[in-house]
Amino acid sequence: MSTYIYAHRGASKKAPENTMPAFELAYQQGADGIETDVQLTKDNIPVLIHDENLRRTTNGMGFVQDYSYDELKKLDAGSWHSVNFRQTVIPTLDDLLTWNKEKQLKLNIELKNNLIEYPNIEKIVYEKIKKYQMEENTVISTFSRKSLLKMKKLKFDIATALLTSKRSRDLIETAKHLSVDGLHIRFRLLSRRLVDKAANNNLYTAVYTVNQPFSISKVIKSNCHAIITDVPDIAWSIRKKL
Ligand code: G3P
Ligand code: CA
Repeated sequence: MSTYIYAHRGASKKAPENTMPAFELAYQQGADGIETDVQLTKDNIPVLIHDENLRRTTNGMGFVQDYSYDELKKLDAGSWHSVNFRQTVIPTLDDLLTWNKEKQLKLNIELKNNLIEYPNIEKIVYEKIKKYQMEENTVISTFSRKSLLKMKKLKFDIATALLTSKRSRDLIETAKHLSVDGLHIRFRLLSRRLVDKAANNNLYTAVYTVNQPFSISKVIKSNCHAIITDVPDIAWSIRKKL
């Protein structure tokens, strides 16, 4: 099976990250899946935005968690990238799941709960995925081991993955303890040894965030389950030639 291509925050090189235009572009560029980040609003609506703070990717300020969705949807989440995307709104997880009903792309939903512990984010996201019947093609990932333990206790029937950017001797043991299905590792951690060791322990490996052609080839040749990239069009062309 060849490596799946996940568009990191959508096709985020050419469109504003974590917006519907970025997801639509990823689809047009041949991505197999979408990686996206979830935070919770004050009224517990799961919204797709990477940073806890609104400053970098919108014309708002302050923290996502301090606004209701009705307030957040008035913000412009596109102009910072280019004027062509002026007035693009912050999407909700519902927006993505509704859009994906027809596309049926794979989804990697990352819970952004490593800095802010959103109470109940796991259950809120889980119930949304169930509501749209997308449990088969979705994986929930997070850097938070505490959150993964919570999901283990809740016995979620959706795949989960441990995100890590740090080298660690006991990574496989930790993943087994958390009962995750996969490891989502930063590119610099990639080695054939780790991918094989993970596979021998029934764990798949996905690698982020890989944008350079040489590195994209390396991930695909390493037999990784998935590559997470800002440039799904480039990854698609490279995969086709290998
Ligand atoms: O899910 C892989 C990657 O997105 C994790 O890091 O900071 O881009 O969310 P970040
Ligand atoms: Ca992410």
